[in-house]
Amino acid sequence: MRIERLSLSDLRCIESLGLVPGPGLNVILGPNGSGKTSVLEGLYVLSRGHSFRRRGREALIRSGCEAFVIHTAVADGAGRVHRIGLRRTREGWEGRLDDVELKRLGDLFTVFAACAFTPNSHELLEGGAEERRAFWDWGVFHVEPTFLEHWRRYVRALRQRNALLREGGGDESFEPFETAMAVSGERLSAQRAAYLDRLRSRLSARARELLPELGPCTLSGSAGFRATAAGDFARMLADRRAADRMRGTTSQGPHRADWALSFEGGREAGQLSRGQQKLAALALTLAQADVYAASKGHWPVLLLDDMSSELDEPHQEGLLASLERGGLQVILTGTGWTEPLAARRGRMQVFHVEHGRLTGTDGGC
Ligand SMILES: Nc1ncnc2c1ncn2[C@@H]1O[C@H](COP(=O)(O)OP(=O)(O)OP(=O)(O)O)[C@@H](O)[C@H]1O
Ligand SMILES: [Mg+2]
Repeated sequence: MRIERLSLSDLRCIESLGLVPGPGLNVILGPNGSGKTSVLEGLYVLSRGHSFRRRGREALIRSGCEAFVIHTAVADGAGRVHRIGLRRTREGWEGRLDDVELKRLGDLFTVFAACAFTPNSHELLEGGAEERRAFWDWGVFHVEPTFLEHWRRYVRALRQRNALLREGGGDESFEPFETAMAVSGERLSAQRAAYLDRLRSRLSARARELLPELGPCTLSGSAGFRATAAGDFARMLADRRAADRMRGTTSQGPHRADWALSFEGGREAGQLSRGQQKLAALALTLAQADVYAASKGHWPVLLLDDMSSELDEPHQEGLLASLERGGLQVILTGTGWTEPLAARRGRMQVFHVEHGRLTGTDGGC
């Protein structure tokens, strides 16, 4: 996958900015607050519908403006170019794919895939389970075509069960929703478990490269409910009905799933230094890109925000060398040249930004 061109309007400090990235390494350089991360956010939004920064979607709309707009042309693995347009107002989305109006924003995500490593990526290990589930499900979504449908059915039935728990519905009214939750919940959990197996083997190699000092890593998943045989989840839901009525919510199920990473000697993510957490998050991001590429036959775009302040120079050098070998399209940001970047100056496309504007380009791609 490759971004052929990108234009952003009224996104954070950017009034209007256009880029034509090269096929390999691209670097956006500029002082603090110049709009580098905002460019990556625009791309990330196209792949997920939200930013990797915490503040709400509306914070992306430039102050005083009605909407932000993103246009891009993306070549897929077969070289077909898709035109994507997305406009976000305070009220909602309008999207177009190849000039056809989108009914669901999710249809974009099958066309454009981006993996991101950002200054907040360590929260994948230290933050809440919701973040880890989102990481997990993005990966499953791209390799299991039926995952999204199972998830939607599960969530619909879960909401209905939760409403019954609060309204004090009779036992007989729970059964259809618990059956629907069990059918879709067991399927999507099997898909999640299969994905974790694929991720595990890629992650071992990436972690060995980035964090050899921590020894072999273990990635373990929990489905959010205990079940050893098909049908267990439905039985468990029925058994827990009384307890769940007291809580007013469904206490177990795939909506409570989580995963954890640990290293040799049982060292858990919480025991790693901040730098080690970042490298572990980078290993996970790259492993996710590996699984995507193995399944689809082409790479997602890789976004590396603030690479120079997140990684020391030996890690930057190792990472850039490995990305160049893989032939990924990478867009990274930094405030200035580091040795590993300068060594590749003639082989990268470089964009200079200031005050949300492109002030120059150079490069050899
Ligand atoms: N909704 C908004 N409207 C206008 N300006 C905004 C909005 N949201 C953020 N900004 C401003 O946009 C600028 C761009 O921020 P961005 O994070 O992209 O910069 P950056 O180049 O990545 O900086 P750093 O090197 O510090 O990471 C900041 O000056 C910020 O104050
Ligand atoms: Mg930034």
